[in-house]
Amino acid sequence: MTVNRIKSQQDLTRGAERAPLQRTLGAFELTFLGIGAIIGTGIFLLTALGAERAGPGLLLSFFIAGLVCVFAALAYAELTAMAPVAGSAYSFAYLSVGEWLAWLVGWNLILEYTAAAAAVAAGWAGYINGLLAHYDLALPLWLRTGYFTNTETGGINLLAVLLVGCIAALLVRGTRESARLNAFLVGAKLIGLLIFIAVTLTFFSPDKLSPFMPYGFWASEQDGLVRGVLAAASLIFFAYVGFDAVSTAAEETVNPQRNIPIGVIASIVICTLIYLLVILAALGAVHYKALAGNPEPLAYVMRTLGYEQLGNVIALIAIFALPTVIMVMLYGQTRIFFVMARDGLIPRSLTRLHTRYHTPARLSWLTAALVAVLAGLLPLDQIAEMSNTGTLFAFIVVAIAVMLLRHQQPNWHRPFRCPAVYAVAGIALMGCVLLFISLPAISIERFGIWSLIGLVIYGVYGYRHSEMSASTKRA
Ligand code: ALA
Repeated sequence: MTVNRIKSQQDLTRGAERAPLQRTLGAFELTFLGIGAIIGTGIFLLTALGAERAGPGLLLSFFIAGLVCVFAALAYAELTAMAPVAGSAYSFAYLSVGEWLAWLVGWNLILEYTAAAAAVAAGWAGYINGLLAHYDLALPLWLRTGYFTNTETGGINLLAVLLVGCIAALLVRGTRESARLNAFLVGAKLIGLLIFIAVTLTFFSPDKLSPFMPYGFWASEQDGLVRGVLAAASLIFFAYVGFDAVSTAAEETVNPQRNIPIGVIASIVICTLIYLLVILAALGAVHYKALAGNPEPLAYVMRTLGYEQLGNVIALIAIFALPTVIMVMLYGQTRIFFVMARDGLIPRSLTRLHTRYHTPARLSWLTAALVAVLAGLLPLDQIAEMSNTGTLFAFIVVAIAVMLLRHQQPNWHRPFRCPAVYAVAGIALMGCVLLFISLPAISIERFGIWSLIGLVIYGVYGYRHSEMSASTKRA
């Protein structure tokens, strides 16, 4: 009996050949796919909560989280170019550390993608419900509050569920169509943020950034909240989540060895630069205490500076921008499920493609159902924190995998090589661990429980049904 099953490069490619997806995406579309997944609730909403935790030091929080993600992206780029299959961190773990850990990564990617999509859907519904209330068209409370948000008045977050259903239907129709719509909406987001930077920077006053770290650097409890630059960094890390979704498109990409590294690195670098400028501009124009806890921080900054209409445009762009994040997250989750099913760790029948659109329709609907349940019933903040733990765990394993494979398989063909790999992946690894331990204890506990459930499922189902299990191979 083999306890630890490690895949070869050929094993991975064979899987992809057995159940192929259509190749339609190029470097430009992938970069837009990445930006579509990255820019969303994090910058449009969590900025306010970050300012509450770090003060002007939020700029440093964004820098730290951005740097960790750029370094993790370099590791992703090397691994995806080497093994261009749709499973992302899950497949890389299969190549390096073995099946049970790969399963655990895949299981925690469900936290990342499904919970992120659900968090964004719930956030989006909040915006629209606010707008409806403004025009006296508010839905009854039980149709706009998840049951677990308030067990007395809550029912289902209806608009969040409807949004997830619409996006799933679009994804089932086809990748190329979804990518085109995504590119259009991403353009709107970028223009909105660039207008914000251009207008707000003209009001920049260095005095507003002082004192720079009123709550210190390390995460510590202050006035009932975990504060400090690192505490804010572990929260706004959510703003960068999504670039890794680009690597899940590897099997639908033309020349993935070249295009995936471009898509992964370009999308995270562009977003990091834009975020730093947005935060510098916002905190230099409006005192951080005025931003803290605001439900629409960026629109608020514009309005405070006297640009009422531009503030409304930014709010409107946020409403249009958030669905693109959900779209890419659903897309990424579907592809990871697809590869896990192909490997036999979840039922293989799920990989069947839609007869007309040739997309993994069953998996898209299954993922959408999971997202809809989370978004429909749970509160936003809890879902977002769940997402961060899953993502950080995946990044940690990817950083380990890229170093391990350089050592284990020095001769494998690497179309893209991460520069100074041990330094870059080492910093990414330490950074992710630091951000993980700076999260609230309750999120870390939930992560532990979720992982335990995953390991039990692997023991009961995945281990026996795996493509790599000896009994399956004999059959
Ligand atoms: N990075 C994505 C967002 O901020 C998940 O919404």
